[in-house]
Amino acid sequence: MPSPRPVITCIEDLRILAQRRVPRMFYDYVDCGSWTETTYRANTADLAAIQFRQRIGMSIAGRTTESRILGNAVSMPLALAPTGLTGMQCADGEILAARAAERFGVPFTLSTVSICSIEDVAAHTEKPFWFQLYVMRDRGFIERLIARAKAANCSALVLTLDLQIQGQRHKDLKNGLSTPPKPTLRNLIDLATKPRWCLGMLQTKRRSFGNIVGHVSGVSDVSSLADWVSQQFDPTLTWDDVRWIRKLWGGKLIVKGVMDVEDARLAVQNGADAIVVSNHGGRQLDGAPSSIAMLPAIAEAVGQRTEILFDSGIRSGQDVLKALALGARGVLIGRAFLYGLGAMGEAGVTRCLEILHRELDLTMGLCGLTTVDAADPTILMNGGVAK
Ligand code: FNR
Repeated sequence: MPSPRPVITCIEDLRILAQRRVPRMFYDYVDCGSWTETTYRANTADLAAIQFRQRIGMSIAGRTTESRILGNAVSMPLALAPTGLTGMQCADGEILAARAAERFGVPFTLSTVSICSIEDVAAHTEKPFWFQLYVMRDRGFIERLIARAKAANCSALVLTLDLQIQGQRHKDLKNGLSTPPKPTLRNLIDLATKPRWCLGMLQTKRRSFGNIVGHVSGVSDVSSLADWVSQQFDPTLTWDDVRWIRKLWGGKLIVKGVMDVEDARLAVQNGADAIVVSNHGGRQLDGAPSSIAMLPAIAEAVGQRTEILFDSGIRSGQDVLKALALGARGVLIGRAFLYGLGAMGEAGVTRCLEILHRELDLTMGLCGLTTVDAADPTILMNGGVAK
């Protein structure tokens, strides 16, 4: 008898299903942080430690989660974060996630190190998406990538500044992470138990880095991600380069990876239209504070001059509301949507967005709010300072 369809009620359900369906090296690539994973765990733990004030006797009819990010209407204040190798969670993963986001009315961000290319995603979607840029040594390649993002009508450039060198992730090294997976005995045994994933991969041609392979001279295969990052990413990057990119791009610029008040000020001075307060989901500097711990001070310093986005650790609508209360205009989600994608493809990303939307709406109501703009520290116990 076939096993009954699992009832998915929360992001954790999607995570468990993804773990069952996605080959181990790609599941582990998502569900890990750098080194001891202390910062990775702090992201979720610190969000969980913040408490709401429960309010009663206020009309909470007619609630809406609708908002605006960078001037554009969104059905809730959330975007899909750029994530590398998304097409390895499930075949054509970037296209499927972009379509789910588009239908839900929230932005999708395509990573530089995606499997589906800028052109692939543009060909399968109708609305503009955001493109995330990593700065490589080869500036000619950067110019061509920006030109491709413009030609695809991308509506914002997310410039990630916290990964010029890569934090070590033990699991990726131990698993021998590569795209596509190498045919080792361990991989073959793992793949044999993931027929759905294998079938999808056999049906697509998109199995390696679509923005890079075939676009950088001499690069026909990028098998080991960490080695490739250290060869290609530019460690000399400074704010001068940010100004150069700002000029080259000309459109909305979002600087991602801000974890310091001084850096937030510099991002604004150097032309950021928005910043993402982010520690890369705990995948870079292990030992740094959680992202939520840094949000209030950064919002206080530059919140009047730039739009503040937040990520790292969002797993529920309650988490979204806590970030909004502490000064974010919107949040980015990484793992939450990746679990959905690995679990159920496009339907799983939609399910993830439905779950977060419903949790956000109900939690707003239980806090006595009818609009997301009304979220401020007064909806939190002790103004959001965890006990
Ligand atoms: C990422 N992140 C990331 N960021 C970026 O700017 N470019 C990228 O290519 C990637 N790749 C990537 C892969 C995977 C598997 C993860 C989990 C994350 C970081 C991402 O944009 C975001 O900052 C974090 O995912 C946010 O934390 P949560 O929501 O995953 O806890």
